[in-house]
Amino acid sequence: MFEGTLVKLVPIGLRHLDDVYEAWNDPEMKQFLRGAIPDAYESEEKWIRRAIDEMAARRSFIFAIESLEDERFLGTVGIHGIDWVSQSANLGIAIHKRENWNRGYGRDALRTIIEFAWKDLNLRRLELGVHAFNKRAIHVYESLGFKRYGTAHQVVFIRGKYADSHFMELFRDDWEARDDAD
Ligand SMILES: CC(C)(COP(=O)(O)OP(=O)(O)OC[C@H]1O[C@@H](n2cnc3c(N)ncnc32)[C@H](O)[C@@H]1OP(=O)(O)O)[C@@H](O)C(=O)NCCC(=O)NCCS
Repeated sequence: MFEGTLVKLVPIGLRHLDDVYEAWNDPEMKQFLRGAIPDAYESEEKWIRRAIDEMAARRSFIFAIESLEDERFLGTVGIHGIDWVSQSANLGIAIHKRENWNRGYGRDALRTIIEFAWKDLNLRRLELGVHAFNKRAIHVYESLGFKRYGTAHQVVFIRGKYADSHFMELFRDDWEARDDAD
């Protein structure tokens, strides 16, 4: 278990299934991810079971984000697509409910998993994709030191509109050179 200042990260498990199913069928949240296409309960169960297997095999690491204050489930954050040779991986996060956005949970969860990536997995680069209209996420990633290295144009179609996606990366050396690095 990894603790930040507001949240802790615990391995995702079947006890999170109902919450995950609810969030991943919420169009407001899903617009920031793959689009508003729903997923069946059984698909979400398979996703969690696969995440458990992937973690055991050290191929990806998906955590539930829980509030330190009251252990409330807030969302998920994960490292996946790990290339152990180049020590590079993808990062993804979702704070599930609108009422929990803008409360500092996302940045705290990201800081915590980034530290895990460097200090426990010995990774040296993290990357992510973010829809260009997701200004809050871009602000948070930039505040943590992620830099944009490319843009895919009109690559997603969400709620009747095409959107661009930016790709961002963060290097361990740059993170460790920051004043506020742990
Ligand atoms: C993106 C996300 C992870 C951020 O987590 P969060 O807990 O909401 O964010 P935080 O409270 O830690 O920080 C929010 C910051 O964004 C800023 N912000 C909010 N709305 C903004 C906007 N429209 N434009 C720019 N900045 C914005 C806030 O002012 C705050 O910055 P500050 O602390 O420097 O003042 C979360 O909102 C989320 O999961 N959203 C839905 C799914 C998603 O977008 N996932 C990411 C896909 S790439």
